[in-house]
Amino acid sequence: MTMQRRGIIKNPENSAIEKKIKRGNAQRQASSGRSKAAMLLLLLLLITVTGLVSWMYFTWTDDFTHTLVSRGEILTQPRVFMVDCSEDYKKYKHFPGCTPTKCGRAISDNVVTLEEAQRLRRLAERGLSLAGSDGGASILDLHSGALSMGKQFVNVYRYFKDDIRDVFTEEDFELYRDIRGRIQNAIAEIFGLDSTQMYLTKPTFFSRINSTSAKTTHDEYWHPHIDKETYGSFDYTSLLYLSDYGLEFGGGRFVFMDPNTNRTVEPLTGRVSFFSSGSENLHRVEKVAWGTRYAITVSYTCDPDYAIDNPSLP
Ligand SMILES: *[C@@H]1O[C@H](CO)[C@@H](O)[C@H](O)[C@H]1NC(C)=O
Ligand SMILES: *[C@@H]1O[C@H](CO)[C@@H](O)[C@H](O)[C@H]1NC(C)=O
Repeated sequence: MTMQRRGIIKNPENSAIEKKIKRGNAQRQASSGRSKAAMLLLLLLLITVTGLVSWMYFTWTDDFTHTLVSRGEILTQPRVFMVDCSEDYKKYKHFPGCTPTKCGRAISDNVVTLEEAQRLRRLAERGLSLAGSDGGASILDLHSGALSMGKQFVNVYRYFKDDIRDVFTEEDFELYRDIRGRIQNAIAEIFGLDSTQMYLTKPTFFSRINSTSAKTTHDEYWHPHIDKETYGSFDYTSLLYLSDYGLEFGGGRFVFMDPNTNRTVEPLTGRVSFFSSGSENLHRVEKVAWGTRYAITVSYTCDPDYAIDNPSLP
């Protein structure tokens, strides 16, 4: 009984305590629910702010750089990007079927095979290994024979005389002629030209660029420029890449500098990029940060007075 009574007496106390505990629990649950909600809100806010900041970052910085073609993609057909022609061509004689009336750029991975590009790369390596610039940018021009040496140029054909036949073969030159003809046809097709009215012009050369700092202005390849301003005879410029961006060298992307956007082309062995040479195609090459970048510049004119012949072994 006593036990029972005690029990009965104690029960209300117990239940009061239990109620308190329950209330406490409920309060704690409620407050933990509130803090969970607050945490979630904070997290959402954080995500939003991070998103906003990176959006602003990419909008204000990176968004002005667009990749026209990345190294990772292989184009199955030319990527064409047309722009309005500048007035530059009006200062020169008009050659129907050749003088640019349609302007822009195109990139193609189908003009030259990987195997052909690799052969040209070896040709470039052999030729350029004979000398090279003290600065980071060396050139070899098979037409004139010009080769960077120290702070100037030598004529490989005169300098190495008959020994040059140990470096270059007739087959190398045949391949070079064949490829430059195919690039010419690709340009004619994209810009609607008569390829028989187009001529090779100078300079047309191999380039080898590494990260060594410039020693003379010849080494300063990275300045923005317009080919038709630098070389009045140019109407179309083409580049054949002989090494891979990101694998063999860093930096060194080609950049079309449009009024509100920089558009890059990432070099890939065998990739051909070509464009009308006027100020609608202001461009630069980024400084090479590491590794070695090989390419060939092949230029075309509409003016037969500025035409040059295919190169041939002397
Ligand atoms: C870059 O090439 C030059 C030859 O033109 C060479 O002397 C130099 O060591 C090279 N630099 C690097 C960083 O490989
Ligand atoms: C394009 O690149 C150049 C050189 O890096 C830079 O000065 C210029 O501001 C860039 N243009 C745009 C629109 O981002």
